[in-house]
Amino acid sequence: MDQIIVTGNGALSGQIPIAGAKNACLTLMPATLLSDEPLTLTNAPRLSDIRTMSTLLQSLGAEVQALQDGQVLAMSSHDLTSTRAEYDIVRKMRASILVLGPLLSRFGHAEVSLPGGCAIGARPVDLHLKALEAMGAKLELRDGYVHATAPSGGLRGGVVEFPFVSVGATENALMAATLAKGTTVLKNAAREPEIVDLAQCLQKMGARIEGEGTSEITIEGVDRLGGATHRVVTDRIELGTYMLAPAICGGEVECLGGRIDLLSAFCEKLDAAGISVEETAAGLKVARKNGRIRAVDVTTEPFPGFPTDLQAQMMALLCTADGTSVLEEKIFENRFMHAPELMRMGAKIDVHGGTATVTGVERLKGAPVMATDLRASVSLILAGLAAEGETVVSRVYHLDRGYEHVVRKLEAVGAKIERVKEQ
Ligand code: UD1
Repeated sequence: MDQIIVTGNGALSGQIPIAGAKNACLTLMPATLLSDEPLTLTNAPRLSDIRTMSTLLQSLGAEVQALQDGQVLAMSSHDLTSTRAEYDIVRKMRASILVLGPLLSRFGHAEVSLPGGCAIGARPVDLHLKALEAMGAKLELRDGYVHATAPSGGLRGGVVEFPFVSVGATENALMAATLAKGTTVLKNAAREPEIVDLAQCLQKMGARIEGEGTSEITIEGVDRLGGATHRVVTDRIELGTYMLAPAICGGEVECLGGRIDLLSAFCEKLDAAGISVEETAAGLKVARKNGRIRAVDVTTEPFPGFPTDLQAQMMALLCTADGTSVLEEKIFENRFMHAPELMRMGAKIDVHGGTATVTGVERLKGAPVMATDLRASVSLILAGLAAEGETVVSRVYHLDRGYEHVVRKLEAVGAKIERVKEQ
């Protein structure tokens, strides 16, 4: 297993290119299952989660070719051989459940193992299943698998009212509804940019969708979908993560491909903390203003609120703020596993249920720490960049699920960081 060694090295400066969004790509890939014509994605990120989704699609008989060093994914589901997603692959990644809606909608039946995924709370898939039931699907849970069957004429349109916002359930329902008979209305739908990206790709394939980006999406089912080529939207979480690097270390970094509208609530918090964010022709330029970071309170919410996927990284910043910050995690329970690790580096954090109170210290100190999930692992790297001495982050395989070339990207702006084999 590899480790990442980071040494606090002062201010950063330069440019960091931001990749296509993991979470958009992971829902765009299963969209290939809806059509017998090719779907090509450009600007795909080079990540282990994407390779896992490729393996899953290939296990169903889909063709998935990674071209141009993995940045282009050429897919075809012309000759599918199976509608069963096996536990061995699904357990590696929760997003695997996103094959359920498309398979069921196109073929009338599907079996998908219940997923595992990041250890950040219970994370059930009941809302995905309820949405498909509202379209007439019969579902049975047996041997750890969801066995889903559509009525004889296929799924039919229905009204799906989500009791709370779920990104994954909205995506599954949206894909399934494209081939259902009649009209489907998704109420209290997620509004994330990844949902808009999926809707735009499905529209290129011939789907009739209105209201994406709002909390009510209407889908008029069509008989078949065609092929398309689609560019994956910028990864707003990778963007926010790298925006925090100069915020923590000082200096000025331009994040290429960045857009404020992808992260408005996050940018407001950076401003309140004393970080300047400026739109440029190529992206976003982030600079730390003079003096210490100011403490700010943060509550995670569905889009357009502050993203839960940036909570750990924001906590790393606030560990050295002047004053006390309160972070409330409203999306997932048990998503403060980075707090004890940051405390090993000298941070002062009190966690009670879904609330973490962070009292800023002058400077963190390097320490051996352990990554516990994807976003937690990168928060430890950010903290290490600003800490005194050496921080050794182990279990970095979590990182490979969501950040391509993290060492190369940070080195390019002057960070002292290396990846080594564990001793
Ligand atoms: C997606 C993202 C993840 C991000 C999250 C919130 C992908 C692959 N993952 O995850 O990175 O952290 O959105 O922005 O895109 N819930 C249920 N029942 C369900 C579904 C969800 O109770 O059927 C709960 C979850 O436990 C959580 C909340 O709903 O408390 C939101 O989850 P959801 O938006 O569905 O997250 P994911 O789609 O899993």
